[in-house]
Amino acid sequence: MKEIRGRIYGVAGPTVVVKGMEGPTMNTVCLVGKDGLLGEIIRIKDELVTLQVYEDTGGLSLNEEVVSHALPLSVKLGPGLLTNIFDGIQRPLRKIRELTGGFISKGVKTPALDLERVWGFEPLKKAGESVSPGDVLGVVQETARIALKIMVPPGVSGVIKEIKGDGVSGSEPVCVLEDGTGIDLYQDWPVRMPRPFQYKLPPEVPFKTGQRVFDTLLPVAEGGTAIVPGGFGTGKTVVEQTIAKYATCDIVIYVGCGERGNEMSEILTDFPELKDPSTNLPLSLRTVIVVNTSNMPVAAREASIFTGITIAEYYRDMGYSVALLADSISRWAEALREISSRLEEMPGEEGFPPYLATNLGGFYERSGRVKCLGDGERTGSITVISAVSPPGGDFSEPVTQASLRFAGSLWALDPDLAYRRHFPAVNWLASFSLYHSELSGWFRDEIAPDMMDLRGRLYSLLQRQTELKDIIQIIGVEALQESDRLTLEVANMARESFLKQSVFNESDAFNTYEKQYWMLKTIFSFMDAAASALKRGVFIETLLESPLRTRIIKMQNTPNEGYPKAAEELIAAIENEFSMIEEK
Ligand SMILES: Nc1ncnc2c1ncn2[C@@H]1O[C@H](COP(=O)(O)OP(=O)(O)OP(=O)(O)O)[C@@H](O)[C@H]1O
Ligand SMILES: [Mg+2]
Repeated sequence: MKEIRGRIYGVAGPTVVVKGMEGPTMNTVCLVGKDGLLGEIIRIKDELVTLQVYEDTGGLSLNEEVVSHALPLSVKLGPGLLTNIFDGIQRPLRKIRELTGGFISKGVKTPALDLERVWGFEPLKKAGESVSPGDVLGVVQETARIALKIMVPPGVSGVIKEIKGDGVSGSEPVCVLEDGTGIDLYQDWPVRMPRPFQYKLPPEVPFKTGQRVFDTLLPVAEGGTAIVPGGFGTGKTVVEQTIAKYATCDIVIYVGCGERGNEMSEILTDFPELKDPSTNLPLSLRTVIVVNTSNMPVAAREASIFTGITIAEYYRDMGYSVALLADSISRWAEALREISSRLEEMPGEEGFPPYLATNLGGFYERSGRVKCLGDGERTGSITVISAVSPPGGDFSEPVTQASLRFAGSLWALDPDLAYRRHFPAVNWLASFSLYHSELSGWFRDEIAPDMMDLRGRLYSLLQRQTELKDIIQIIGVEALQESDRLTLEVANMARESFLKQSVFNESDAFNTYEKQYWMLKTIFSFMDAAASALKRGVFIETLLESPLRTRIIKMQNTPNEGYPKAAEELIAAIENEFSMIEEK
């Protein structure tokens, strides 16, 4: 292997300047100093090469040697990713803890995955068959839940000469082609290069989070992107973790990016214990966690979202629906800013480098629902949901604005709602979903013909409530028309029962679309029956005294299986009671 050597000429925080390298290549990795710290070339100018170093640069001194093999920063893809916890450059944290204790010592070299481990392999191809990129050679049962497909890597094709039976490890190829090319259980892939697919598909299928305010009001499509900006303590992390627990997808890649160590350690201890409510299997069986706490080197944090999305693409290529959850993209941008300032680049807005949006785009644009390469007509998707932490909750700052360019859904979290303990604290009027028209066909066909109408009614109701609140400020609630008072009341009911959803209430934490639809239907049945009673001259007070109101608000506690029966009974009771009330 070609080796290029140089010597340390300067160190500034996470960046190292190297002199004397012959023919260095941008974005390739180097081993820095006597401990062999991992770094990546991010600038070449005259005879000086600048690296961002993924490990703590404390202790490096001038003239220490730097070695490069001109290879890009890559991740190892293969069995053993699931249930695992990595740092931003895919070092396996549990393994490191076993080797070196609670703190990562410098330059620890541990393979990301256990290459010696023998996996059961079920071949799906035979000698003599010709294969091309993406074709599935066989299957490894990676966890009780996920079958990992061993695919022909991009750029490789030929006729199979030999393929293994059961029991394979990383030490020898699972398959050898006629021309002698070996295909391993593991593939290396450069993190900054998107993995290829055939073509992108339109966003026509919703990504089911199980949360009413998202699924019904602000849906994100499978393969779409949603951003969750919110000030301090508005519930971003809880949103990401709830989705990690309940969303209907095959694989979850959770990128904890520069968050507090305590919060991450909670994930590391709690997550393996959590059970998937639909299968009752541990959630970790479908999850890969990539973490970089705020005290870890910033360059590794910069890499972590690319490490995460490359792993996500690998599972997408097998035909799985993958959720990539990033918390928080602002901390990633801060890492970018720190590195940029060390490079003394011309700063853009608020000190972020001018290429902030381009680099963010390089991440978000890797989401999508695609037709995969290879045989078997697979479609896979990556849905990206990323938290943004705008300082002071001000959404006009650069990271929120740059993320908005790529976001199909905006779930804006509101400190007032959080303060009033209305969770998820989504400000429905400040948020949007660009997917709802493309998804409307799916809603109509799969849920109910009037699903989108009910959603539209809910929106208008909430909007009208805001208008009415302004009017009340001036004239007081008593001066409102009775129909407007009804609107206010029903909007309150919708907020209490439908928009609020507790993650701590087991029967409500995950909602099927059927439950969401029937809850809405019940709320609007109440509204319609009450409106027609008002027309007959019934006083609004009489209607609002009805115990049915409380029953509707408590409807969220009926588990999914109780629907539609519970709703149908309630609707019948509403119609019955309200039609009986006599004119006064
Ligand atoms: N869905 C929810 N149900 C009940 N409580 C919630 C919910 N979401 C958030 N909370 C409450 O709000 C607190 C803060 O939430 P969280 O840590 O997710 O905020 P954050 O936006 O990630 O904060 P930070 O900006 O500090 O990262 C939680 O500890 C919890 O008490
Ligand atoms: Mg948080």
